[in-house]
Amino acid sequence: MAEPVNGFSKLTKNQKIEWLAKNHFINKEEGVKTLEQYWNKDAKLQALHDEFIENTISNFYLPLGIAPNFLINQKYHTIPMAIEESSVVAAAGKAAKYWQQRGGFKTKILGTEKIGQVHFMYHGDASKLKSFFTEVEPKLYKATETITENMRKRGGGISTIELKNKTSQLDNYYQLHCTFETLDAMGANFINSCLEAIAKTFSAEAHQNSLFSPEEKNIEIVMSILSNYVPNCVVKAEVSCKIEELNEDKNLNPQEFADKFVRAVAIANAEPHRAVTHNKGIMNGVDAVVLATGNDFRAIEAGAHAYASKSGSYKSLTHAEIKDGIFKFWIEIPLALGTVGGLTSLHPLVKLSLEILDKPSARELMQIIAVAGLAQNFAAVRSLITDGIQKGHMKMHLMNILNQLGATAEEKAYFVDFYKNKTITHSNVIKEFNDLKAKNV
Ligand code: MEV
Repeated sequence: MAEPVNGFSKLTKNQKIEWLAKNHFINKEEGVKTLEQYWNKDAKLQALHDEFIENTISNFYLPLGIAPNFLINQKYHTIPMAIEESSVVAAAGKAAKYWQQRGGFKTKILGTEKIGQVHFMYHGDASKLKSFFTEVEPKLYKATETITENMRKRGGGISTIELKNKTSQLDNYYQLHCTFETLDAMGANFINSCLEAIAKTFSAEAHQNSLFSPEEKNIEIVMSILSNYVPNCVVKAEVSCKIEELNEDKNLNPQEFADKFVRAVAIANAEPHRAVTHNKGIMNGVDAVVLATGNDFRAIEAGAHAYASKSGSYKSLTHAEIKDGIFKFWIEIPLALGTVGGLTSLHPLVKLSLEILDKPSARELMQIIAVAGLAQNFAAVRSLITDGIQKGHMKMHLMNILNQLGATAEEKAYFVDFYKNKTITHSNVIKEFNDLKAKNV
């Protein structure tokens, strides 16, 4: 078992690895070699990655794939996706092609409002706090002027500051609920800096306010932080076509396919267990592009799932209907994204991913990512209600199993052909692989 270590972050990278090898690796040399294998040969590039976080010992690869042929608002896009799950990029490519032949994806931004809050405790008369807030509000904007200057020049900044009485949820709890327009920046640093300046001024002004009693003056700022729940930073993406055009599935006629598809989405709306998996499939597409473009997938995940629960129970992020012979399938998802700042100009692959997407604005990226989520969900639900998910999934997973078995290039080619029209299971691949080996010995 490892001993506690003091001052670890001060050690050099090699010293950290030495400590790790001594305390945690079964085979020290092998472990160190594995870490070093993933270092970049370019020392400057490696240093860049080392400095993204503390205690970096190596790089952690994810495949970066691309899904071409995404027709969005009549313009073609090639979408970069960073993801380890075998079937996701293949499914995206398939869905893109399917809808390319049926008019493509249409998207619309429903809002771009970001949110941040100053959470504080106030012990006193709520009406006095309200009049104090009205008086002090202009000073709160003023306190942030240097921070917001550039953003304001480009048309963004703080949109509103509102006092909210939350005492029915928690005794003495109030907040300053602030909304922001952060344009092409995700805006986390901008928002948090504004909030901290607002909180400081708010608290200082309260101390000087002659209407407040000594206790009322003593507003306790608990924290100032952006919210990753952004129900007004939402994008809609949709596909639609005549029912008779949904004609690719041999065992279902187009009407049956449409009916079954709508029912599958209705089940996700009615049943949280299914909704979570349904939305997970959407996030397969969303997160892959969020990661490739250097955005914060944890923020996106948290916000999306909160949005899925906005009615009080957890529901599907996508919707489907049949009306007047038209099948329509759409998603509404909150996406607080940036295409400037953060990793976007630092990480060479993020820069390249944004270049692949023709250097989108944050609004454009919201639309592309919503499409990636919708496409992924379409592909998953389509498989689920027709062949089942395992056929396509295992086809893509075959390579992972063969790699685990140490298959050669010829053996891989043999098994890809062998399983063309057969059901793939993990145990079956192992058996067939061992049989082949035995035959060749
Ligand atoms: C697997 O990563 C995602 C799916 O389970 C999504 C779904 O069930 O809709 C296939």
